[in-house]
Amino acid sequence: MKIRVLGSAAGGGFPQWNCNCRNCDGVRHGRIRARRRTQSSIAVTVNDVDWLLINASPDLLAQIGASPSLQPGRYARDTGIVAVVLMDAQIDHVTGLLMLREGKHLSIYCTASVWKDLTEGLSLTRVLSHYCDIQWHPIEMNDTMPPGEGKPFTLPQLEGIDFIPVPLSSKAPPYSPHRMSPSPGDNIGLIIRNARTGKSAFYAPGLGQIEAHVESAMRAADSVLVDGTFWRDDEMIRLGLSKKRALDMGHLPQSGPGGMIELLDSLGDRRKILIHINNTNPILDEDSQERATLARDGIEVAYDGMEIAL
Ligand code: MLT
Ligand code: MN
Ligand code: ZN
Repeated sequence: MKIRVLGSAAGGGFPQWNCNCRNCDGVRHGRIRARRRTQSSIAVTVNDVDWLLINASPDLLAQIGASPSLQPGRYARDTGIVAVVLMDAQIDHVTGLLMLREGKHLSIYCTASVWKDLTEGLSLTRVLSHYCDIQWHPIEMNDTMPPGEGKPFTLPQLEGIDFIPVPLSSKAPPYSPHRMSPSPGDNIGLIIRNARTGKSAFYAPGLGQIEAHVESAMRAADSVLVDGTFWRDDEMIRLGLSKKRALDMGHLPQSGPGGMIELLDSLGDRRKILIHINNTNPILDEDSQERATLARDGIEVAYDGMEIAL
């Protein structure tokens, strides 16, 4: 099984079109050593032909262009993308669906609360249904499942891979009609397990809180790809860019007591990869002290095009 990182940045990408923070300005003008990054998405395959897209970023077309094996070119009109899984209904994870409208058929795996936001909050599924045939495959989150896990699902084109949803407590997106009344399924993580090799990855680009079941999922995984949005809780406030703290936005900062680095350090020997990195995060600057701290602790920073074999 192969996981390909299509987009490693948080909403806005890197550099962000309207941002002149040290990082965005620096990468735009070549003043810092850093890679540009598109918005949050990964894809999974077992045969290099059929791919499950996990999140559909607004940068999807550029990501497909940068990943030739997602475009196998067998027929006059063709794609390697067999289905899309959505981890939440955030703009940076769903608006790429509109870019898939020229396809014949679109299979979308998401929870009922995400589907509701896509239908009633954004009207996205209704708009899309005028262009292509859409099939919703509900990801079920209910009490009959093992604690902290939703109902596993498989896809015929990704033989031997089990996808196990993990409920995360966070918020629905700002536009959601139920933003103020969170429901299980607003945000999920995903365990991606290869039954043939016994290896697995845990993917959660948005993680505000590390509940016990989330920590167990991380401990059981050979590779963790987790929320790398902010270095500090007050990162945006200190830069004068927002009044919101990282935790208010559902993102656990990396530094400080109880932060992501502390947790990753406690996991022992496995691949630890930060993903969904905000453009303000100092770890994007490859010469920063913060990046050196991660390197010392064996924590990697995802980049567009990174591949993980499991
Ligand atoms: C988030 O995860 O907080 C997002 O990246 C916000 C956004 O899409 O703008
Ligand atoms: Mn995001
Ligand atoms: Zn910026």
